[in-house]
Amino acid sequence: MKANKIVAQLIGYFKTTFQQNPQLIFSPGRINLIGEHTDYNDGFAFPAAIDKGIYLAVEATEDDTSTIVALDAEEEYRFSTHDTLQPLAKRGWENYILGIVAELQKKGVDLPNFNLVFKGDVPIGAGLSSSAALENAVVFGLNHLFQLGISRKEMIFISQRAEHHFAGVKCGILDQYASMFGQKNRGLHLDCRTLTSTAYPMDLGDYEWVLIHTNVHHNLADSAYNHRRAVCEKVAQQFGVAALCDLSVKDLKTMETRLSADDYVKAAFIIEENERTLQAVKALMENDMGALGSLLFASHDGLSNKYEVSCAELDFLVDAAKASDAVIGARMIGGGFGGCTLNLMHTDKKQRFLEDIQPSYKAEFHQECTIYSVNIGEGTHLITNYE
Ligand code: GLA
Repeated sequence: MKANKIVAQLIGYFKTTFQQNPQLIFSPGRINLIGEHTDYNDGFAFPAAIDKGIYLAVEATEDDTSTIVALDAEEEYRFSTHDTLQPLAKRGWENYILGIVAELQKKGVDLPNFNLVFKGDVPIGAGLSSSAALENAVVFGLNHLFQLGISRKEMIFISQRAEHHFAGVKCGILDQYASMFGQKNRGLHLDCRTLTSTAYPMDLGDYEWVLIHTNVHHNLADSAYNHRRAVCEKVAQQFGVAALCDLSVKDLKTMETRLSADDYVKAAFIIEENERTLQAVKALMENDMGALGSLLFASHDGLSNKYEVSCAELDFLVDAAKASDAVIGARMIGGGFGGCTLNLMHTDKKQRFLEDIQPSYKAEFHQECTIYSVNIGEGTHLITNYE
């Protein structure tokens, strides 16, 4: 659905239900060109915000409860901002909003009640960070509405803590950063230790980014994610460094016999992936699309065989990409265990590949894969001009 149609729907719903004119916010999802699982190891990543995300309408209310509505799911939930909040056992969309409110309460903010309605055009569970988009939209909207004076940087930490405490995923800062700070047509080379980034124009010449969604999201994703993070922290501790990205592969080798084989391979993946991210920035700056593409394939190979966060559906799509002359690089993006592959495709050759991949994916997995073209957009912002 087109952006202005979604906005019109939100305004219509808000006016009819609450007899109010809301404030409107857009917060995007993200892709990550390379640098996967490096964020919680104080490494580098290379994300960009996309033009799909969460649209949110919010306004203060005099009522003694807040009403929050997920328009897509046609679900509503009520609570008071003065309650002590706990995550709901159903683990749904409500937890992201309750999590933000709980984090604001912890900061000592005396938050008034509000009405909030949201709708998205970013697929859920696709590895495109719909949850960070929602968290950022909520904290940004409340900050604007109640003039809380919270900086963008503080907001992304609030979003991250909401995810840790109310969604149970010990995520890094990649998604929240990219969604909040994204720049149109630019990728952000992000240093996750200093939380600073350099923006690079996405000038891809004859190539373009295309996402292919597996339409699967395997259940073990959250627990496996937390497990990977724990392994990384354990190895860093064994070396007496703050984070794994303080080590080189050579450093790691010196302790090979004192680590379990599995921990060694996982830690090596992180250090190699961090190195690949630096190489990818260089390749992009030198317009060397071939080198960039090879780094993407190498990243997927490590994610699948060393870090073990891929799945049969993602591997199938990347293997098909490798076999085609239309795609010069492809990898899974995000936490893994489902979601999308990101493909660097030759614009003039992509059509045949895209026509072939759909039936062959269906024949293999008995379900469709979905193709999205990627536009790189702005980070979280107010929508002021929607007429
Ligand atoms: C998820 C997390 C991020 C990051 C990626 C993997 O998207 O939320 O913090 O760790 O996985 O790069």
